Amino acid sequence: MLKEPWKKYRPFPPVELPDRQWPNRVLTRAPIWCSVDLRDGNQALAIPMNVSQKLELFNTLVKIGFKEIEVGFPSASNTEFRFNRRLIEEGRVPEDVWLQVLVQAREDLIERTFESLVGARKVIIHLYNSTSPAQRRVVFGKSKAEIIEIAVRGAQMIKDRLPRLAGTEVRLQYSPESFSATEVEFAKEVSEAVMEVWQPTPERKMILNLPDTVEVAMPNVYADQIEWMCRHIKNRDALIISLHTHNDRNTGTAKTELGLLAGADRVEGTLFGNGERTGNLDIVTVALNLYMHGIDPGLDFSDLNAIVEVYERCTGMIVPPRHPYAGELVFTAFSGSHQDAIRKGLREWAAGGREYWDVPYLTIDPTDIGREYREVIRVNSQSGKGGVAYLLETQFGIELPKDLQREFGPIANDEVDRLGREGSAAELKDMFWREYIERTWPWQLQSFATESLNGTVRCRARLLRDGEPVEIRGEGNGPLAALVHGLVGFGVPRFEIIHYSEHALSEGEEASAIAYIQIRHADGRTRWGAGVDTNIELASVRAVLSALNRS
Ligand code: KIV
Ligand code: ZN
Repeated sequence: MLKEPWKKYRPFPPVELPDRQWPNRVLTRAPIWCSVDLRDGNQALAIPMNVSQKLELFNTLVKIGFKEIEVGFPSASNTEFRFNRRLIEEGRVPEDVWLQVLVQAREDLIERTFESLVGARKVIIHLYNSTSPAQRRVVFGKSKAEIIEIAVRGAQMIKDRLPRLAGTEVRLQYSPESFSATEVEFAKEVSEAVMEVWQPTPERKMILNLPDTVEVAMPNVYADQIEWMCRHIKNRDALIISLHTHNDRNTGTAKTELGLLAGADRVEGTLFGNGERTGNLDIVTVALNLYMHGIDPGLDFSDLNAIVEVYERCTGMIVPPRHPYAGELVFTAFSGSHQDAIRKGLREWAAGGREYWDVPYLTIDPTDIGREYREVIRVNSQSGKGGVAYLLETQFGIELPKDLQREFGPIANDEVDRLGREGSAAELKDMFWREYIERTWPWQLQSFATESLNGTVRCRARLLRDGEPVEIRGEGNGPLAALVHGLVGFGVPRFEIIHYSEHALSEGEEASAIAYIQIRHADGRTRWGAGVDTNIELASVRAVLSALNRS
């Protein structure tokens, strides 16, 4: 990199708008959405979609709720032309959906575009030409007046052919391509020249799309450009102002959100931001950002995983694991403190009584978009006891006492560390079983019987000790006290039970219970044990032996 980058690059000049209004506004409703997946998105694929992939993606976009879909550049390739014809001829476009097609200001291309639209119900014809100083100088070698001339000729050619689409509802759209790199005064001039030809009215509006074709400045500058246009262009009420942002500086989402504050009505973009270079605006993110603020986005992402699956299969692109809302790891917490906070927040939410979602680290409820709480926490060697306990409880109904969580957490973390990857819930349960439930050496239960006389319980336990059968008898004020008495009488060093709890594990005839016991030895050491049995008394006896076996 250069030591003196200012010698090669320069800052982008701000827009003169001292009384800008957008910073004081808030968004209160969703814009009109237009998906450009099948055009701008498709155009940027190493292997463009074939017709059947395009059809599948089109159906998915319709299902999501898009009412405006740019289906392609029908004059640019036979595939795009045939795709357009199939949609129209096979009646695949719902009555309320507008088919949008893109075309440059060239007569042959406009001709072919019109051919592709015959018989359609609702169409948006999208004309564009580039307007920035670099495009004027480098690509076209034309003056501002000549650039306006291109736009006006294209607009006129379209206007002249409109009678050919009798019976079709037509809306016209113009984009001064590279708008954000164009002087606002010139963008206004060229747009007004097109408006002069198309004569939009408040009843028959045209779309003026103001693309951030290549990001050249910060989002506040784009917002200023949009507000400037909204305030200075003539007949604003005859226009639908549209945004079309890209991501060269990774701020396409911010640009769109600020552009909406600045007065825009419509947003073009793609699912998950597929598009040229660093991609187009990700409509899923902007829509769910609105949803997160309680605004109905008018698009349905309740099964986001299914949409990701169709998108990845049709485009060959991958949604990165940390992609907002859709990425595989988005609702996953690895750090112990995050896991703990999420667990408490989800509990509070599940208990009811809170009006608004306010769970730490989770911006929205994952289940609203078809993702599951189960995905929220996975355990790795950095996870805390909270994550381990949460998984055992939510996946298997194992409710570890707090202090046992503290004992088992580090044991599980060490084991996960040895695995060298994340541990699944099933693996954690296996670890717990190995550590507590299946501890049958040196003590193992064969049978346990009690009888009660005048408030005293007597027990007879048949056990294996180091594999050898032994019989132990004891008495106390309950079965466990009798067992402890019998074991100590048999020569086991003195110990006492300081915690006992149990709960059912599953329902039905085979219902089993799990008991948790903590013992304290004469020297003050404590140990946890756990036992499972269909009989709760036997589960607790097993738990005592488990604690002894772990001592
Ligand atoms: O990015 C862009 O400027 C475009 C135009 C054709 C609208 O895709
Ligand atoms: Zn674009």
